Amino acid sequence: MTSKEIRQSFLDFFASKNHKIVPSAPMVIKDDPTLMFTNAGMNQFKNIILGNDPIKYSRIADSQKCLRVSGKHNDLEEVGHDTYHHTMFEMLGNWSFGDYFKKEALAWAWEFLTEVLKLDKDRLYVSVFEGNPAENVPFDQEAFDIWKQYVSEDRIILGNKKDNFWEMGDQGPCGPCSEIHIDLRTDAERAKVSGRDLVNADHPQVVEIWNNVFMEFNRKADGSLEKLPAQHVDTGMGFERLCMAMQNVTSNYDTDVFTPLIAKVEEITGLKYTNNQQPTTSNQEKINIAIRVIVDHVRAVAFAIADGQLPSNTGAGYVIRRILRRAIRYGFTFLNTKEPFINKLVEVLANQMGEFFPEIKSQQQLVTNVIREEEASFLRTLEQGLQLLDKVVAETSGKEVSGEKVFELYDTFGFPKDLTALILKEKGYTFNEDDFEAELQKQKARSRAASEVATGDWHILVDGNVEKFVGYDQTENEVKITRYRKIDSKKDGILYQIVLDATPFYPEGGGQVGDKGHLYTHEGVVEI
Ligand code: GLY
Repeated sequence: MTSKEIRQSFLDFFASKNHKIVPSAPMVIKDDPTLMFTNAGMNQFKNIILGNDPIKYSRIADSQKCLRVSGKHNDLEEVGHDTYHHTMFEMLGNWSFGDYFKKEALAWAWEFLTEVLKLDKDRLYVSVFEGNPAENVPFDQEAFDIWKQYVSEDRIILGNKKDNFWEMGDQGPCGPCSEIHIDLRTDAERAKVSGRDLVNADHPQVVEIWNNVFMEFNRKADGSLEKLPAQHVDTGMGFERLCMAMQNVTSNYDTDVFTPLIAKVEEITGLKYTNNQQPTTSNQEKINIAIRVIVDHVRAVAFAIADGQLPSNTGAGYVIRRILRRAIRYGFTFLNTKEPFINKLVEVLANQMGEFFPEIKSQQQLVTNVIREEEASFLRTLEQGLQLLDKVVAETSGKEVSGEKVFELYDTFGFPKDLTALILKEKGYTFNEDDFEAELQKQKARSRAASEVATGDWHILVDGNVEKFVGYDQTENEVKITRYRKIDSKKDGILYQIVLDATPFYPEGGGQVGDKGHLYTHEGVVEI
């Protein structure tokens, strides 16, 4: 099956079980102070689960774009170095809001995997929560008993809080979960070591594919657990991993989710990607890692931009900029790409995913332009920064580089500190985080001082709300100042704000650019 067919079969299966199929929510979250990005399919349903929003459909299924690069769920370090973690990935999910619970959820998960997709039962393992007396959450006997109807007991693994109690973040909905893992190793390898021993052991071919969370609690800010008003099911299946299992390959990057992107990188760079089955050298492995990083990161960055998050210097925008700069540097160092090229992958992505996620098609041009600009701007300083870093390393005695130098790379050359840390790690070095932080705080204090302003009182010249907008009929008119105030700014000196009684100038707002023009006075002309 192609990846498109696999996604569709999941949605069709749950539609046949009376689930409403809904589109993915945006990957960028604007209205939840506890999260920057969607990190799980359930984020968009958080308020339903908490009982704050009404239940419109009690059964839902979808494929949700997720990003795990910050906070509780952060896979960034693994990406590219292994073959099954991603920054952005799709999570296939089915939900029950106060409707069915463990019996149906586990039965349907098993039915879909073994009867619809016909995955080999002999390669599947399941896990259930062993319980946590400290938090008064018991062993999940119910899930254990349900699984016994489908698999032999030696395939049921008891998992601890880390593996089998799923939480959205430090706060929010959570509950015990039951995972399904698949063993994709060869028969010879499986005969030697049981897959059971490799579950949750970071083996690249024995991986979790589906998590069934039984939402029963809300983790409160003080860390305590509170019972939810109703019980819900929240499941998440890693789409790219499922494609790996279905397409008989042993790396997510060998599925048709990634191969068209990899082919494009090969075409641009003239280099070859060697998959898991081919022999490799250490130099080829560096090329492979760089290609995996780039084809992974371009998806995260492109979809974030399509969802309205432009790269920037703060918050979520900086996370996106950091991911892109990481990809640019991998290309520069290991693929010898000295010109912008990542933007050229957006077309491939849009053709591949635009049918299911129309936003990547409709925003294709914007996404391409933004990535190209970002690449061009970082490439202008990257080489010089790398040279400085080499010099710093050469002058460092011991294995810890000074935090001030890492700050200089950040401030002058635009190197995110985690990128510098990554490059240093490749050379066997670390840097002094405390000194970096101290420099950052000093810089913040300097810019705060520079932007200090003292705002004077308004002086009222004409009383009442007399101001009118006349710009629908006129583009010039005679005006009076109705009020003004003085601003004393350390950065810009003395300024005045004035209010006019009748202005033809339309202000910036609602996506419109403000009008420009001039204000003529007896003493001179003011540009607006
Ligand atoms: N909410 C289920 C998961 O992310 O695994």
